[in-house]
Amino acid sequence: MTVNANTDAGARTWRDLPAAQQPDWPDHQALRDALAELESYPPLVFAGECDQLRERLGAVARGEAFLLQGGDCAEAFDQVGAEHIRNKLKTLLQMSAVLTYAASVPVVKVGRIAGQYSKPRSKPTETRDGVTLPVYRGDSVNGFEFTEESRRPDPERLKRMYHASSSTLNLVRAFTTGGYADLRQVHAWNQDFVKNSPSGQRYEALAREIDQAMKFMRACGTDPEELRTVEFFSSHEALLLDYESALTRVDSRSGKLYDVSGHMIWIGERTRQLDGAHIEFASQVRNPVGVKLGPTTTSEEALALIERLDPDREPGRLTFITRMGADKIRDRLPELVEKVTASGAQVGWVCDPMHGNTFEAASGHKTRRFDDVLDEVKGFFEVHKSLGTHPGGIHMELTGDDVTECVGGGDEIFVDDLHQRYETACDPRLNRSQSLDLAFLVAEMYRDQ
Ligand code: PEP
Ligand code: CO
Repeated sequence: MTVNANTDAGARTWRDLPAAQQPDWPDHQALRDALAELESYPPLVFAGECDQLRERLGAVARGEAFLLQGGDCAEAFDQVGAEHIRNKLKTLLQMSAVLTYAASVPVVKVGRIAGQYSKPRSKPTETRDGVTLPVYRGDSVNGFEFTEESRRPDPERLKRMYHASSSTLNLVRAFTTGGYADLRQVHAWNQDFVKNSPSGQRYEALAREIDQAMKFMRACGTDPEELRTVEFFSSHEALLLDYESALTRVDSRSGKLYDVSGHMIWIGERTRQLDGAHIEFASQVRNPVGVKLGPTTTSEEALALIERLDPDREPGRLTFITRMGADKIRDRLPELVEKVTASGAQVGWVCDPMHGNTFEAASGHKTRRFDDVLDEVKGFFEVHKSLGTHPGGIHMELTGDDVTECVGGGDEIFVDDLHQRYETACDPRLNRSQSLDLAFLVAEMYRDQ
């Protein structure tokens, strides 16, 4: 049972600190009204579920499990439909089946889903043909369309974010517990996949092996319940602190604060200032917390983040999501891992091979090369292998739809194809085939480490 954080307003220490990347809301009364309404809404997740994920991530930090975290760069209100959600889930389930079976490791499944509506941006405004407007900050703040009206931050959108997250999570919960995620469906997840896609065919062969293994287990008289449902958790970047605060509640069992907008939250590369509001907020809630670490991160910063966010050194509490870029990971990651390990802290190390590998194609599309993504993951595994530490997982931007946003992959997408289905509201995502390709390659790396 959780109650409203208003009963414990004194604990909201982050309120007085500078918060980077917040929208400039034009109507403050409207903002207050929206937040008051949000404070009265029920939690999207329970404190006990967040504790369970923290335990699972503890296994990741100890080297006993692998985190698969993925989904859109930015979810969009007009994509909250059964098909998009099912496709995304299906892709993650297929990737997870590949990793679990081919790498023989328990996979902790976390979506960038049901709350990933807010984006940090490198500039506050955008100029096109001499017209300057506020930059798009995600559907939780303003519209993607380049008009004055659409780009004006509107606090009503915070309520829409809550409702969109709630509908999404409801469907995800139904899919993952209502039979769809039953491992006996391992073939069905592949059914509508392009027949001649190389990754689809490779998956089909693996699904046949899983089927055989399950038949064998049944013949031996075991049919475990764990194969029928799947544990699936939600996560998003805790960027808009007004929204996260309105959904931060005191858990009546423990008396601790939980951000009930999602199971896991992370703090992005642009908002992880040690003296800023985001880190203070994350330090006050009991959810498992991720922090993105870019190529300029120093080991002193990493150690200070541990001191702030994981003072009790609790495995599963803190996950470092590194996003260095394929050309930097082998150079920058070793010192961080070495110093953190030497300090005695047990954090989860997860590789985001997306955000350090973005570039603009000649056509003007923001894109990523599949080979760079793969190379960053390879570098991540190499570094951990040489230090004897655990490569704990991957953090991906992906979709279940057959988009053409990243170049390369087994079913190769060329720069000239990018315009065909370029649908992202923010960063380019791997499509389903590219995501599966990656899962097979990561499973090989995990097995060989
Ligand atoms: C993101 O995950 O979409 C993002 C903006 O990442 P980062 O904070 O690592 O740049
Ligand atoms: Co992104």
